[in-house]
Amino acid sequence: MKKDQVQHLPVMLDRCVALLTPALENRDEAVVVDATIGLGGHAEALLERFPNIRLIGIDRDQSALERSKERLSQFSSRVNFFHAVYDQIPTLLSEMGIQGVAGILFDLGVSSLQLDDLERGFSYSKAAPLDMRMDKSKSVTASSVINEYSQEELTRIIKVYGEERFANRIAKNIVKARGTRKLENTAQIAEIVKDSIPAPARRMGGNPAKRTFQAIRIEVNQELEILKRAIPQAINCIELHGRMVVMSFQSLEDRIVKQAFAEVTKSQSPVGLPIELKEHKAKFKLVFNGSETPDEFELSRNPRSQSVRLRAIERIAI
Ligand SMILES: C[S@@+](CC[C@H](N)C(=O)[O-])C[C@H]1O[C@@H](n2cnc3c(N)ncnc32)[C@H](O)[C@@H]1O
Repeated sequence: MKKDQVQHLPVMLDRCVALLTPALENRDEAVVVDATIGLGGHAEALLERFPNIRLIGIDRDQSALERSKERLSQFSSRVNFFHAVYDQIPTLLSEMGIQGVAGILFDLGVSSLQLDDLERGFSYSKAAPLDMRMDKSKSVTASSVINEYSQEELTRIIKVYGEERFANRIAKNIVKARGTRKLENTAQIAEIVKDSIPAPARRMGGNPAKRTFQAIRIEVNQELEILKRAIPQAINCIELHGRMVVMSFQSLEDRIVKQAFAEVTKSQSPVGLPIELKEHKAKFKLVFNGSETPDEFELSRNPRSQSVRLRAIERIAI
């Protein structure tokens, strides 16, 4: 195993493979979409375990795709890579002439590759340029959000996407600071956030910049808007007995997934109808109730797994 593979352990790997297994085993062929292929850890395990699958690997980050292509080179005849946003899954599948897929995996959020590359500005621990784009070809960066958004917009983003109590003060202080000079790096933002949060609140819940950075990242990459349309679209692409597994890393993402799953696993029967007609029956079931979290063993060796919530559904009717 190469050094980077040791450092970047795929989150809840065995569980993801186990959850997809009933949809993939004992059949001649099956298509799996890895909507967030990243460094290819989950994809590699699936390709190794199921010689019958074709995997469609998607990532909006060109450098992640290059890394996963290299890692999965031995499986190249069974993998198609796409530099795309995961709300393009239906389009990509129809362009390939694929009607339905047996498995879809979403491992949301940022990869270790993105976090570890200081130049990309995802980390608040060291000074780095205000970037945070997952797709470096896009024009909106953390710098444009920080330096160009109005105080009201900044407040809303930090409050809603960061679930930050002191969003008002942080936004006000960002606007004040940028009045004298353009804000250039992540350390300046971390400092402004720290100074905006009263000392007693600062002592709780880890680095105070975490929530504001999360908020800016979500805005730069339009993460929640994309996820809201992508999950229902992807669900529609699942064939009978196919499964979808989603891992979220913060509550806003998890809420979107939970709501989308709730919608398709409930009966569509109009209120008051005495019996449930076949066409109103739910087309999906939850593979288990609620969400799962990693066990102690994984938590102790894989820091990225700390905040994960895993959910899964299966199609039970067409
Ligand atoms: C947590 S990593 C995936 C890690 C991967 N499962 C592995 O084993 O290496 C998430 C990846 O999803 C990508 N990503 C995030 N949002 C995306 C979107 N809307 N469309 C496509 N890719 C996205 C990121 O660029 C990142 O590479």
